[in-house]
Amino acid sequence: MTKQIAILGSTGSIGRNALRVIDSLGPQYEVAALSAHSSVELLAEQARRYRPEFVAITNPDYAERLHELIGDLDIEILAGPDGLIKIAELPHVDIVLTAVVGAAGLHAVLAAAKKGKRLAIANKEPLVIAGELLRKTTEDSGSVILPVDSEHSAVFQAMQSGGREQVNKIILTASGGPFRQADPEDLRNVTLEQALAHPVWDMGPKITIDSATMMNKAFEIIEARWLFDIPVEKIEVLIHPESIIHSIVEFVDGSMIAQLGEPDMCLPIQYALTYPERVAGIAKALRLEDIGTLTFEKSNLQTFRALSLGYEVAQTGGTAPVVFNAANETAVEEFLAGRIKFVNIVEIIENCLNRHNVKPAVCLEDVLEADAWARREVTELAYSV
Ligand SMILES: NC(=O)c1ccc[n+]([C@@H]2O[C@H](COP(=O)([O-])OP(=O)(O)OC[C@H]3O[C@@H](n4cnc5c(N)ncnc54)[C@H](OP(=O)(O)O)[C@@H]3O)[C@@H](O)[C@H]2O)c1
Repeated sequence: MTKQIAILGSTGSIGRNALRVIDSLGPQYEVAALSAHSSVELLAEQARRYRPEFVAITNPDYAERLHELIGDLDIEILAGPDGLIKIAELPHVDIVLTAVVGAAGLHAVLAAAKKGKRLAIANKEPLVIAGELLRKTTEDSGSVILPVDSEHSAVFQAMQSGGREQVNKIILTASGGPFRQADPEDLRNVTLEQALAHPVWDMGPKITIDSATMMNKAFEIIEARWLFDIPVEKIEVLIHPESIIHSIVEFVDGSMIAQLGEPDMCLPIQYALTYPERVAGIAKALRLEDIGTLTFEKSNLQTFRALSLGYEVAQTGGTAPVVFNAANETAVEEFLAGRIKFVNIVEIIENCLNRHNVKPAVCLEDVLEADAWARREVTELAYSV
């Protein structure tokens, strides 16, 4: 039986790697649907090569161009954000790989979960802002979430060595990003170019900036809390600059089970597609003798305020993570557009959290309301820095 895969965000860093993985897996894995926001030329190229039944272009301004490029093919073109939901719900799709960036993936992730799909989830923001809702939806529908984030894939794999109640702690490893050894003053003069130069991982611009501020790790704490149903106080962050150990689970008997591999997203993507099978793939094999030394450091909470905010927000829950994420997305856009400085990103997020009146986030409306509030607030705050 072939597996039909819908890739949400096929033109991004994860999406392109997912297509490489699918190429290597052979004919049992077929591309049923693809999506992009505005990379219309690349989406057309992918559509011509993989011949999915559907392609979605979420920015409708590019729909006409997409029709010009692939109108001769027997492919249905969906325009606008609802196209993502439609491809996430397709009855014959087995696996929905969510690789769009930001909260934009939320509706589609929930839609796929409601339909009981296997969710290979790279898009961490929906878990951060609607983790409880997503958990409940998957429990009701029988949908299975396979994490693609390398740290959570590692935890998922290590968790298979014991029961959840036997877990002492989850240790999320972090490369530390480009400013690992910086002190708070150094961060004042960081340029966009420096912030985009990640020492280990080659990723999209938003997550690269999130790694530089360590917001990414803060999100991963919240993501782990929901994915593994583990209290926040059992989740630790450990700096591991080589990014070879992708994360560790410590069990009550003192055993630590870690997953190791080259820093290459193809491995967790492939595992999420083939689970519970393991098959030979394109990820380069790790040679520990070539690595030599693995090093570890405590995380620097003084320089990276984002990390302590992440713990606070994860503990607070309710709409706090929604505001945390929306404020970050907006502040990162402002930074990428050159309108604010690097240090302003986390300052603005903290300011926004301080102004927010936390409420329970029980339904989608609660999440959307807090998200919209934070985006408005940050736009105002960004003008005043
Ligand atoms: N890259 C990694 O190694 C990595 C690792 C772990 C987790 N993740 C997570 O995976 C997700 C994707 O990361 P990435 O690095 O692949 O990002 P990316 O390279 O920026 O790609 C993002 C994808 O989302 C699409 N997109 C952008 N804005 C959209 C919108 N408003 N609505 C719908 N689609 C939109 C983009 O389309 P266009 O090309 O048309 O803009 C592209 O296909 C993020 O949540 C990230 O945190 C990434």
